[in-house]
This record gives sequence, structure tokens and C-alpha cells, in this order.
Amino acid sequence: MTIRFPIALAAAALAITAPAVAQTPPGGDTGGGIVRIAKPVTGKEVYEAVCQACHMADAKGGVGAGTIPALASNPRLAGAAYPISAIVLGKGGMPGLTGSLDDTQIAEVVTYIRTNFGNAYAKPVTAAEVARIPHPTRGGGH
Ligand code: HEC
Repeated sequence: MTIRFPIALAAAALAITAPAVAQTPPGGDTGGGIVRIAKPVTGKEVYEAVCQACHMADAKGGVGAGTIPALASNPRLAGAAYPISAIVLGKGGMPGLTGSLDDTQIAEVVTYIRTNFGNAYAKPVTAAEVARIPHPTRGGGH
């Protein structure tokens, strides 16, 4: 038994994976593998920062303290108004998110979920569409 081989293998593995780890995301740093983004901008960033905690990274939802519906392959996303109002107004166990997301971020994330996870509703959602849904007044807290 010798430990010389595993060390050499580990070094080789490091050399192979290093380029992938070295990528720095726009506006963030890699801080030891944790990506820090001050304000999520793209739909993907908003999804990962806000939605994925409940709806899961694969958007398949889950059953835990409550039932989280899947956004993956969800025909209710065919119309943009439905997901927009869920985010603006909240829905059942889901809080309204206008306190943390602006209309542009909401438009981006709705566009993202409607064009990913097995959904193919290609028309991009605009901030103007989001603004058309009456927003709850700010400052109410939650
Ligand atoms: C705190 C947990 C939580 C977060 C954060 C959250 N959701 Fe939800 N979401 C839920 C729950 C629970 C429901 C089910 C509400 C109900 O119908 O009772 C839901 C429902 C939805 C629905 C309706 C699905 C359907 O088939 O009726 C959409 C669309 C949705 N969420 C999108 C999002 C998006 C996009 C984000 C991020 C911007 C997000 N959610 C963030 C918990 C969450």
C-alpha cells in the first residue's frame, strides 16, 4: 500500500477542473466557490436567488412543509399573466415578491421559467406587462 498514487491523481484532477472553477461570473466573484451577486439581473439569476429555494433548482417543486408546485412543464405558464400575478400578488403559500424584485426582474424571471424547464413559451415578457398587474402598496411588510 502506498499513498503516492492518489496524490498524483488528485493533482491531475485539479489541473483538469481548474479552468471551470476559474470562471468569474459578471458582477460577482467566486469567493471560494460561492457566487455572490449583489443584485440578480438575468432571469436565471433571479430564479436562483429567489425562486429556487422553494421551487427547487430543477423547478420540479416538492412536498415538505407545504406543497410547492412544479414550474417545469407547467401548462399554466402558457399565459404570462398567471405567473406574473403569482409573483406580484402572491398565491397561497407563496408570498408576493414586489418588495424584493422590481418589474424588470420579474419580467426576466417569468421569461426564464417560460422558456426553460421543459416550457417553450418563447414570447419575452416585458416590465410594462408586469406593471399592468396592480401592485400591492409597498411598506406593508410581510
Ligand atoms: C417561499 C416559497 C416560494 C418562493 C420564494 C417562490 N414560490 Fe412560487 N409558489 C410557492 C407556493 C407554495 C406555490 C403554490 C401556491 C398555491 O397555489 O397555493 C407557488 C406557486 C407558484 C406559481 C403558480 C404555479 C401553478 O401551477 O399554479 C408560479 C408560476 C410560481 N410560484 C412562480 C414563482 C417564481 C417565478 C418565483 C421566484 C420569483 C417563486 N415562485 C418564488 C412558493 C414559493
